[in-house]
Amino acid sequence: MSAIESVLQESRVFSPSAETVAGAVISGMDAYHALAAEAERDYDGFWAKLARETLSWHKPFTKVLDESNAPFYTWFEDGELNASYNSLDRHVEAGRGDRTAIIFEADDGTVTHVTYQDLLQRVSRFANALKRRGVKKGDRVVIYMPMSIEGVVAMQACARIGAPHSVVFGGFSSKSLNERLVDVGAVALVTADEQMRGGKALPLKRIADEALAMGGCEGVKSVIVYRRTGGDIEWHPERDAWMDELAQNESDRCEPEWVGAEHPLFVLYTSGSTGKPKGVQHSTGGYLLWAAQTMKWTFDWKPSDIFWCTADIGWVTGHTYITYGPLALGATQVMFEGVPTYPDGGRFWSTIEKHKVSIFYTAPTAIRSLIKIAEADQKVHPKSYDLSSLRILGTVGEPINPQAWVWYYENVGGSRCPIVDTWWQTETGGHMISPMPGATPLVPGSCTLPVPGIQAAIVDETGQDVPNGQGGILVIKRPWPGMLRTIWGDPERFKKSYFPAELGGKLYLAGDGSVRDKETGYFTIMGRIDDVLNVSGHRLGTMEIESALVANPIVAEAAVVGRPDETTGEAVVAFVVLKRPCPEGEEAVKLASELRAWVAKEIGPIAKPKDIRFGENLPKTRSGKIMRRLLRSLAKGEAITQDVSTLENPAILEQLAQAR
Ligand code: WTA
Repeated sequence: MSAIESVLQESRVFSPSAETVAGAVISGMDAYHALAAEAERDYDGFWAKLARETLSWHKPFTKVLDESNAPFYTWFEDGELNASYNSLDRHVEAGRGDRTAIIFEADDGTVTHVTYQDLLQRVSRFANALKRRGVKKGDRVVIYMPMSIEGVVAMQACARIGAPHSVVFGGFSSKSLNERLVDVGAVALVTADEQMRGGKALPLKRIADEALAMGGCEGVKSVIVYRRTGGDIEWHPERDAWMDELAQNESDRCEPEWVGAEHPLFVLYTSGSTGKPKGVQHSTGGYLLWAAQTMKWTFDWKPSDIFWCTADIGWVTGHTYITYGPLALGATQVMFEGVPTYPDGGRFWSTIEKHKVSIFYTAPTAIRSLIKIAEADQKVHPKSYDLSSLRILGTVGEPINPQAWVWYYENVGGSRCPIVDTWWQTETGGHMISPMPGATPLVPGSCTLPVPGIQAAIVDETGQDVPNGQGGILVIKRPWPGMLRTIWGDPERFKKSYFPAELGGKLYLAGDGSVRDKETGYFTIMGRIDDVLNVSGHRLGTMEIESALVANPIVAEAAVVGRPDETTGEAVVAFVVLKRPCPEGEEAVKLASELRAWVAKEIGPIAKPKDIRFGENLPKTRSGKIMRRLLRSLAKGEAITQDVSTLENPAILEQLAQAR
């Protein structure tokens, strides 16, 4: 083992302090095991009890889990509720309307407080406006917005009228937005004139106009625009309307639309191993229970907490731990418009100090990049801020390396705050494997044990359990309330992707590799086992990037692989064959930068390849199959030690080893 690798090994165990254990929602490992045992004894009864305690039902359910049409499981099917009622009205009705729901911190530092009462009125007004524009229960509304109170208002208003929303991350291109509008069959689009990040304005409305002009989405009759900057935009009076003007004319009361528990709350697109992104469809009842329950358990949430999740509402983390989980519990949370490095690398720490944040949830990538900045400049080091309000820290989206974990623990958490390393996915709705802060002894780099009731396991290619200590495929053995219900418009793909016949058809296939510790049974995630990359915690399909590249008229062929990266976890490396002779020198540098910009335009800047390498060809077997394992070695800069005797064109390897 090299010196560097040995520093990466961290064998210390960090147990919660007696004080943390004493007041915790799940207090001590005995309490954790007792919950897990209760679920084991009576699976339906366990979830039914929590669903009754945690959510308010308009019509109580009598059925719990229905497995008769597996894997299309249903939960609480004959119950009726409304997600927005659960997030807003019930807190106001209980006399907590004056409580702050959102502390909004804008890019330029301006702070806005919104109470539950205010939020309910704003959501009701906008819900009425949507109805007046003809949006009905079951219609889909696409939301392409910056981090904003208005973004949450738009999502909650859709939930209020039973119109499933589909939020598209504001960093996606017009083409990606168009694909999602078409696939989900949207009737309305909510966007903003511009979005502000790091002092720069980005033209959301212009991109939305381009997306609509690409066609296929003529069903979009309304484009509703949140006025964020007042910047210049084009206006199409027959379809465009200002969000504030629409809301002004509406009543601040709007009866929620009571929907069945299985009514789709939202569709969120995510990358899979084949070209087209998958529209992950979530339910209302089961999902909302998952959001609220995991928020309470994993973050040990109490009414006195100030919660801050730094994710964007365009990703599932923002859905579950900004729009739904915290609001369903009546929590007070910080919502942040900007970026962690603006105006300087201390922005996260100063924001925690300013708003006295007690629970802080972010991504390993952000931590890794802030470590570099802090170590280079003591002024923006977390130790230069008063972070004593913090009591729980969390991470999500990708594995956290033990070094970064320990830095986060010591420098941000002052060696007193448990870190919950939460493993979950767009498809799972909320946390699945994670420490419980007042119970689980922590091991850096491990997401430890399943959430109470969840049966996670590691199996081989045939679906058989493998012993602890041996790596394998991560699966979930029983359906859970927060799971996806299907892929929008493609039930066959849902079955094939998540309940494959090779594993027996009953196990939920997560798509990650994992290993359990021999003694503790703790899970460590080893990354994706399919063609999905994880760059800065964002999921990208290699095929999506390849299709984007070959859509460029000068590109003949492209293959994309991942390479480990110190900051972003993984980086995108593209091997490209042009329809013209292989470029060299200046020409190659110029074309590589053009292709990067092309990918940003086709998918979004997050998908831009870090390296582009040109060759006359790609390494292929005689039958024409691209040898990706060789490309992975080349991308890492490793010497090729594999057997290349089946390779048709071994000379190509040398050429492709050069990065541009
Ligand atoms: C990865 C994000 C290691 C994993 C909530 C998963 C993680 C994918 C962790 C889902 C973690 C998420 N440790 N890897 N704590 N959390 N992942 O759908 O590969 O954007 O399959 O959901 O991120 O990404 P998604």
